[in-house]
Amino acid sequence: MMTTRIIGTGSALPAYTLTNDDLSKFLDTSDEWIRTRTGIRSRQLAGEGETAVTLAAEAGKKALEAGKTAPCEIQMVFVATCSSENYFPSVACRVQEALGLKNASALDLSAACSGFLFALHTAHAYIMSGYCDTALVIGTETLSRTIDWTDRSTCVLFGDGAGACVVKKDEEGILDVVQHSDGTRGDVLMASAESRPTPVSAARKGMPLQMDGQAVFRFAVKTVPECIQELMDKTGRSLEEIDHVVLHQANSRIIEAVAKRLHMPLEKFRMNLDRHGNTSAASIPILLDELNRNGTLHKGDLVLLSGFGAGLTWGSALLTW
Ligand code: ACO
Repeated sequence: MMTTRIIGTGSALPAYTLTNDDLSKFLDTSDEWIRTRTGIRSRQLAGEGETAVTLAAEAGKKALEAGKTAPCEIQMVFVATCSSENYFPSVACRVQEALGLKNASALDLSAACSGFLFALHTAHAYIMSGYCDTALVIGTETLSRTIDWTDRSTCVLFGDGAGACVVKKDEEGILDVVQHSDGTRGDVLMASAESRPTPVSAARKGMPLQMDGQAVFRFAVKTVPECIQELMDKTGRSLEEIDHVVLHQANSRIIEAVAKRLHMPLEKFRMNLDRHGNTSAASIPILLDELNRNGTLHKGDLVLLSGFGAGLTWGSALLTW
């Protein structure tokens, strides 16, 4: 069967680490509250000169090296982000420039924390349609710059970073993907950009990230298991066969609840959110890269990826490594 395989991974994290104790110096919060409610201990924040583009380019470069892929072999670049500095040019075009991907065409996708999953699915669909053989798929975020740092209910959750995969046409790899959206529930997780006045409308102030945390929690623990089961039914594979679950790293309590609902051992649910927080579209590819580099993933392992986020959006992919 012809499909799409991940042949190289890379990731990049900002240099600065902010711990829970650092947060408690300027917020009414504590390491204990954040750890027990979320599982997060520290996160990285983009500093001067670090952007969604620089992080994406660094992660992409590492993925190309790991996949032994020359820049000229990349035909498409898909970047998932919801925190780019610019409306345009796209992050993907900036990455193309930075890495010298002269044979690629490049575009960004916005699906918040599900972004990497949706971008991977898009790359897979392009490859399966015959349009290209090799693509670079990146999730990159600097959400720390869209957050209100006086709002303790949101700012403790997020971190910055990027993760990337080189994907290529192959006989093994992605078994199938499912993805969904529900725009009627968009209000539970929002951030908006500033706009300038026009002759017919007033200026609009931007709004930092706002979230109904409990609504997101309920959405995730109900929808993610259903979506995973839908994918298992579609592929004819069973949950027992899965070796690794790489779930969006939002909150360890969500991950524990998903494992419980699926009656799966928590050990199969890989986690790094204690060190990086919620890096939105970057969380799945950063974790995938860490597991790949530390020898956790072995050729032939069955890997489940699953993401959920603003929109609302959610999706899952099943693949053999
Ligand atoms: N430190 C100390 N106290 C806090 C903090 C904090 N950082 N944040 C909130 N509190 C307080 C609240 O003010 C509230 O106090 P009150 O009872 O005096 O009013 C109390 O803690 C409880 O607040 P809740 O919002 O009810 O806390 P909850 O147990 O729901 O936990 C959390 C909040 C962690 C956000 C939880 O709702 C959650 O995990 N939601 C999932 C959302 C998520 O993970 N989003 C990630 C981004 S979205 C995505 O990636 C798809």
